Amino acid sequence: MYTNNSQNKIARPITISRLQQMKEQGEKFACLTSYDATFTNAISHSGVEVILVGDSLGMVIQGQDSTLPVSIEDMCYHVAAVKRGNAHSFLMADMPFMSYSKPEQALDNAAKLMQAGAQMVKLEGGQWLHDTISLLSQRGIPVCAHLGLTPQAVHKLGGYKVQGRDEHIAKSIETESLNLVEAGADMLLYECIPTSLAKRITEQVSVPTIGIGAGPHTDGQILVLHDMLGVNLGKPARFVKNYLTEGRSIQAAFEAYVTEVKQQAFPTTDHSFE
Ligand code: KIV
Repeated sequence: MYTNNSQNKIARPITISRLQQMKEQGEKFACLTSYDATFTNAISHSGVEVILVGDSLGMVIQGQDSTLPVSIEDMCYHVAAVKRGNAHSFLMADMPFMSYSKPEQALDNAAKLMQAGAQMVKLEGGQWLHDTISLLSQRGIPVCAHLGLTPQAVHKLGGYKVQGRDEHIAKSIETESLNLVEAGADMLLYECIPTSLAKRITEQVSVPTIGIGAGPHTDGQILVLHDMLGVNLGKPARFVKNYLTEGRSIQAAFEAYVTEVKQQAFPTTDHSFE
């Protein structure tokens, strides 16, 4: 297990209230995906506030060509492993494709993830999630809504493309965000949307926002673990930065990422879209 020698010490376990307080105080927070106990322990000790057990595990762990084949059983297995390795970070877990297409089904599957160790579940979608988020929230399950580029809808979207460049779509992402917060969402995550749109929404909503390819103005930033360590099967996306450079150890790479997010040195315009 890792000891924390970094500048980015976390004194107490991170909670949803702490993330909310960080938003209110204008303090940026760092998030990373993780899928196993050992990486999780190093990530957590480096000061990363939020760890996501992402369904990206379908691609980076299982070698699938999308996230669609990932099952709720796969997710529970990895959430339990991550929980065992976690020190202080807040644990969020993805609900996989078609595990939340109806509210009652979503409640049953969210309960499985929470019992495996998640502290929040993440769902991809907009307005159609209103009743589902409302039900989960009423049952005491914290929810993050993932908007913009939603990888589970890749075939409907026609590829992994920036969303919201068109003002009509931008407006609907903004309105849906406000409605989902009203339904009970505790956090919002934006993937591949213009910087100006992410800024506009972050300034309006009361809950913390997280971005990946959404520019520097969201309250938190997230990267996929393998991407930030430069271990990619294909060409890395524009929003990715490899931190395993300059002879750094893996632990030092995590710490450099946390420092850059907090100092707002990452992401730059090179990692963002307009
Ligand atoms: O599954 C995942 O890793 C994600 C991130 C890209 C945010 O949803």
